[in-house]
Amino acid sequence: MIVLKDIAELFTLSKASHKKARNIKLEDLSVIKNAAMVIEKEKIVWVGESKKLPPHYKKSKSVSLKKKTVLPAFVECHTHTLFGGTRAEEFELRNQGASYQQIAEKGGGIRSTVNQTRDISDKALETLGKKRLLEFQRQGVTTVEIKSGYGLDLKSETRLLKMASRLNKSFRVVSTYLGPHAVPEKHSNVDFYLNEILLEHLPKLANSKLTKRADIFVDKGYFSIEGARRYAQIIKSFGWDLVVHADQMHRTGATQLAVELGAISADHVIQINDDDIEALAKSETTAVLLPTSDLYLKMNYPPARKLIEAGARVALATDFNPGTSPTQDISFVGVLARLQMKMSLAEVLVAYTLGAAYALGLQNELGSLEVGKVADFIVLDSNWQELFYQVGHTPVQSVWSRGKSVVENKL
Ligand code: NIG
Ligand code: FE
Repeated sequence: MIVLKDIAELFTLSKASHKKARNIKLEDLSVIKNAAMVIEKEKIVWVGESKKLPPHYKKSKSVSLKKKTVLPAFVECHTHTLFGGTRAEEFELRNQGASYQQIAEKGGGIRSTVNQTRDISDKALETLGKKRLLEFQRQGVTTVEIKSGYGLDLKSETRLLKMASRLNKSFRVVSTYLGPHAVPEKHSNVDFYLNEILLEHLPKLANSKLTKRADIFVDKGYFSIEGARRYAQIIKSFGWDLVVHADQMHRTGATQLAVELGAISADHVIQINDDDIEALAKSETTAVLLPTSDLYLKMNYPPARKLIEAGARVALATDFNPGTSPTQDISFVGVLARLQMKMSLAEVLVAYTLGAAYALGLQNELGSLEVGKVADFIVLDSNWQELFYQVGHTPVQSVWSRGKSVVENKL
């Protein structure tokens, strides 16, 4: 048992949690001033004003948080963290006028990362994975979703999922299978590859118990709506969560399909219309917004304001990958959300905590600081308004996960 005391402001997000992270207003952050929080066995057992701390806790070990601000730790719900190599040269080509699609057609893009990921040893890739997780953690992120998808064949995809589960031992990692990310070089045809996934890869992966989530990239030149339907049917028969990279480059109708199939999240959702927004708003599917990848691709941003005002639940994430979003900087994501998508700071904060926890199905454990939830939180070195303000800087002094301090930043 540990009592955390001398908290100047404790952002519990309890009202946001009652509203299932929808239509967030400033008061939904549910801030308690002069607060204390009690943790037992990794979980929060009491939160409230210090002066109301029940007497029986007063004899327990206590830690002073020195009049700082405490918020829920961030949840990074969409990344492609396990990859080898870089695509820096493609970034230059794109800036000189080549399109993402043109580069992909010439064997670059996702396929280039697939080759570079196969060429790197297990040890080197795992070391990179750890380094990248620490980079997220330093910024206050204690949960990171990692997709496979840079393997494509069963052996290489399994290798990535196994690595993600090894990384989960020292960090909270949620893995997602993304075999249908691109068509591998040796297959000339998307249907042939999808059939192989459905008939051979998925049954073996289900037996391996390496993951419980599966994603698919639905877009022109990638996977079709019909393909996604067939994929979803099998995923659902396993009881796994379905995720869809939806309406990113072109409007294919994937967002509405994701809603219809009860996907846990629809990610990107850039090329969406009012009907798609309405469908998301009425559903339990979280819209995951990835503004750094939109900036790198020089695309439009998703209609965040319309989504929020219609009542959809939104999450924010980096989409960290070497092609469309070579950044792990969550401050960059938040600043773009505020500047380009006109999200309020309260909306950004909830999207990066509770909204993202929903996208991972972890809303009962993470994303707010309430009794019964896991004690994952950050202690700020500044006022909360300095969050998502200065790109490249997160004013996080310390990061706690499962009730233990895991990072002390020198600021
Ligand atoms: O989320 N859209 C598909 N997948 C990634 C891009 C991956 C890559 O280019 O390597 C994305 O943007
Ligand atoms: Fe992605």
